[in-house]
Amino acid sequence: MHRRRPDAQRWSLRVDPPWSLDAWRGAAREALLRGLSPEQLDWLESSAGSLLDAPAATQAPLLETPSVPHVPSAFLELASTCLCHADAQPMPLLYRLLWRIVHGERALLSNPTDADVLRAMTMAQAVRRDTHKMKAFVRFREIPGEQDAFIAWFEPQHRIVDRVAAFFARRFAGMRWAILTPYRSVHWDGQALSFGAGGHREQAPAEDARETLWQTYYASIFNPARLNTRMMQQEMPARYWRHLPEAQLLPGLIRDAGDRVQAMHDRPAQPPQRRIPSRRATSPVPSPSSDLATLQRQAAGCRQCPLWESTTQVVFGEGPGDARVMLVGEQPGDTEDLCGRPFAGPAGALLDRALSELGIARSALYLTNAVKHFHHERRGKVRLHKRPQGRHVQACRPWLLGEIERVRPEIIVCLGATAASAVFGSHFSLTRDRARWHTLPDGTRGSATVHPAWVLRQADEVRREDAYRLFRDDLRQLLIGDAESTGRRPALPPTSEG
Ligand code: URA
Repeated sequence: MHRRRPDAQRWSLRVDPPWSLDAWRGAAREALLRGLSPEQLDWLESSAGSLLDAPAATQAPLLETPSVPHVPSAFLELASTCLCHADAQPMPLLYRLLWRIVHGERALLSNPTDADVLRAMTMAQAVRRDTHKMKAFVRFREIPGEQDAFIAWFEPQHRIVDRVAAFFARRFAGMRWAILTPYRSVHWDGQALSFGAGGHREQAPAEDARETLWQTYYASIFNPARLNTRMMQQEMPARYWRHLPEAQLLPGLIRDAGDRVQAMHDRPAQPPQRRIPSRRATSPVPSPSSDLATLQRQAAGCRQCPLWESTTQVVFGEGPGDARVMLVGEQPGDTEDLCGRPFAGPAGALLDRALSELGIARSALYLTNAVKHFHHERRGKVRLHKRPQGRHVQACRPWLLGEIERVRPEIIVCLGATAASAVFGSHFSLTRDRARWHTLPDGTRGSATVHPAWVLRQADEVRREDAYRLFRDDLRQLLIGDAESTGRRPALPPTSEG
């Protein structure tokens, strides 16, 4: 299809602007349609002609069956980057690559050792690096007398203004700005980008108030002990310094860094200003002689595990100090953490429903938890319940035992596996031992049933009702039925309304 023309006639092609992929692509297409080989072409940048120029390639005769084959998108991507390279003439190189690709070397770009490919890749890399630096180092200055209007002066190494303009438009969409460079300028009016001729450094304001603020901030965050000038120069090459307000400070900051580090070294150590929890030293422990109210006050300062740091307060037990029945739950939830009372949230409401259906007055019970701080995980504004860990249960155990010792209930009913293992030990299995009586070393009888939160977590209404009945029937058996079947004195007086 594409045959090299036998004559050595030269032809010229103009690309304007020279960094435009569309312009170059159009010109390259004309050359391919005429079968013009790379050696026959002079690639020209400006639209101004000269008498010595070869005739325009569009004057060359078309091939008998002209067509342009499909070009891999990777080539177009590479071409659009290389065309921004200011020094090494990318246009003849790109046409040579294109010519080779359409003449059978379809996989040419995957051969990085090919000299043409290597040159193009190196060019593209330089352009990409310059693009990155421009995004990082452009500094806008306010135009005096205008509101929300800014100008930046920047000297890129390559012709990348068109390439990065969309980035700045997205980033600073809400302000009006212009970036001037020696070869081209770009302007954003809040709606659209427009491009113009290059400018001069003096056209951009020299300094604005923000700059002084930025310099003060930069000087205050500059840490002399972490100064690494080699890294700094790699990341912020000196040629970009003239664009950066902070660069004026750098020589002084770098010069003084050694002395400042020495001064930091010589300064006597300061006590930390942030509160660092001292774990055991200041954490109260239950004193044997304290009554229930004192125990509660002591527990409020507990620091035996880290849970206190992210919670509102300790949620201590509540109920008559001589209650004959103690219910032990797992830990306070979100509502309980905020209001400071056990079983005040949704699980508490379900417990209340069961007690009321059984005719048991909540006020007759002592309600507490195995863990007295709310273990949770934050997801945005929401605090999600997390099961307490063994170490949390262990840390809280002295307070729970303190409550049991002082209230001396006749029976303890644990709600859920965490409470049961805190009271009976880790060998307790809720599946196996649910609603069975155990005797604690001090003679207190204890048992366990499911937790009301488990009832609430059931997947659908039917399952929830089944689970609820199980929970309520366990409570009935443990709190009422037992006394009826054994002839023991009922542990609970009936409610006034029940
Ligand atoms: N779940 C518990 O185990 N205790 C409470 O206090 C609240 C919810």
